[in-house]
Amino acid sequence: MARILVTGAAGFIGSHTADLLLQEGNEVWGIDNLRTGRMSNLSAASQSPRFHFVRADVAKEKPCDELMEKAKPAAVIHLAALVSVPESFEQPDENFRLNLTATHVIAEAAHRHGVKRIVFASSAAVYGRAESFPLDERGITIPVSPYGAAKLASESLLAGYAESFGLTVRSCRYFNVFGPRQDPSSPYSGVISRFWEKLGQGSQPTVFGDGEQTRDFIYVGDVARANLLAATMPEVHSGVANICTGRPTSINNLVQTMARLLGREVNPIHVAPRQGDIRHSLGSPQAAQALLGFSASTSLADGLQALFLRRDADQHG
Ligand SMILES: NC(=O)c1ccc[n+]([C@@H]2O[C@H](COP(=O)([O-])OP(=O)(O)OC[C@H]3O[C@@H](n4cnc5c(N)ncnc54)[C@H](O)[C@@H]3O)[C@@H](O)[C@H]2O)c1
Repeated sequence: MARILVTGAAGFIGSHTADLLLQEGNEVWGIDNLRTGRMSNLSAASQSPRFHFVRADVAKEKPCDELMEKAKPAAVIHLAALVSVPESFEQPDENFRLNLTATHVIAEAAHRHGVKRIVFASSAAVYGRAESFPLDERGITIPVSPYGAAKLASESLLAGYAESFGLTVRSCRYFNVFGPRQDPSSPYSGVISRFWEKLGQGSQPTVFGDGEQTRDFIYVGDVARANLLAATMPEVHSGVANICTGRPTSINNLVQTMARLLGREVNPIHVAPRQGDIRHSLGSPQAAQALLGFSASTSLADGLQALFLRRDADQHG
């Protein structure tokens, strides 16, 4: 059993990560200020006597310092962030504070309290304009948004801590994550949850651009497993790993898959492309396999099915 601190624990990925860590017998300390997260995401975790929660801002030194002192975790999984590319254009100061200053605060507190490992939620957004697919961790990174730039800067900052102070830092570049508990109410939310909500309301989903842009969609349960491995596996070395499937799906294809699962026709409304959106995104999953023994095991159709079933359960239960 390990004691793990999860920042952003009340969020979409954070709550699934907390659930899996608990299932595997670990003790979990969660911190979240509920900026975008919800306590209801933690209803399963909260049943466990091995789960502890603190409501606080991770960009502030005092609460992070106090929490590390109290919890003395073996590892921190740092997920708390401003998570949206469009919001990072609208609120660049908040993007800097949540996506870079907070990383520094967490790294400093970890170093001061002898925490040996940090798993960082980075993003495929660090690749930005890179055009050689599949995207590989050794390839170029040209972020095209304040969000991608801050994630890349955080990776560098943490790599510096690893080299300078002997911490193990693993930056996980998540691709497009989907699954239950992804908040569809925000216009910044993931495309699958937004489509799913529209279809559930009997409306047509909105597609930015021609719909031929591609994404590498990965199910949240797989991402939680990658986080678990990165935080708890012995002898994990510092470095960067894509957390992806290595399989491209166009938005048009996604719409058709959803239509097939729902058993009805879907005719999306096409509008102008969004500022900062990239045309293609496809990761190479090889480094995660080699370094963490991780590969995604849930297909897009199976992940969508899990999402649909979950919604039915929410509606009827
Ligand atoms: N969802 C994706 O497709 C995706 C892709 C790449 C990277 N990521 C990264 O994964 C991480 C988790 O994202 P998510 O999709 O679960 O989003 P989310 O919004 O559900 O989770 C983020 C959590 O961080 C919390 N938070 C934000 N600012 C905070 C602060 N100052 N102090 C404490 N808590 C704070 C929020 O309340 C929320 O619970 C983020 O770092 C995000 O950038 C997500």
